[in-house]
Amino acid sequence: MTLLTVWADDDPDTVLKRTDDAEVVADELKQLGVRFERWPVVEDLPEKPTSDEVLAAYEPYVSRVVENEGYVLVDALHMTPEDTDEWRAKAAEARQRFLSEHTHDDDEDRFFARGAGVFYLHVHGKVYAVLCEAGDLLSVPANTTHWFDMGTRPDYVSVRFFHDEDGWVGNFTGARLAEQFADFDTLMAVRRG
Ligand SMILES: [Fe+2]
Repeated sequence: MTLLTVWADDDPDTVLKRTDDAEVVADELKQLGVRFERWPVVEDLPEKPTSDEVLAAYEPYVSRVVENEGYVLVDALHMTPEDTDEWRAKAAEARQRFLSEHTHDDDEDRFFARGAGVFYLHVHGKVYAVLCEAGDLLSVPANTTHWFDMGTRPDYVSVRFFHDEDGWVGNFTGARLAEQFADFDTLMAVRRG
């Protein structure tokens, strides 16, 4: 289930708002210009699906977003845990890549077909952590400061939408906020109760 947690950006110890009501989450995010939707989850994806398999499974939802938002590049990727040191190193590197606050010139639009990840939006003096799970689509508007935590054992399938062929390009702000706020593993523990 989706979980939204909001803090003041200078007070990571005081939760201002927390909800797992998808409609409330969508309303809160709409005020930030963020699109949040839930799609029916396709349950029979392979454990390590190809990009084409994921995109085919989520037609016509993917096509609708592409048409509405004018995207020119769409792909899907997966992080699937393996019990090897090589995989753990790859997972740690992948996690670090997105864990520092950054912006993009493009929207960052993601759909989770499996697993989970947390987007942290740093807007209007607050931090909005959106724990996305299977079925969630979230769009981070261009130039919005944010970071993403896939956790210490990344496990997800996500669809990515881009307005240009360059794909993912991050402009890092240098802020160290991610170290102060509840991380993916902590928020997953809260969500599970
Ligand atoms: Fe990003």
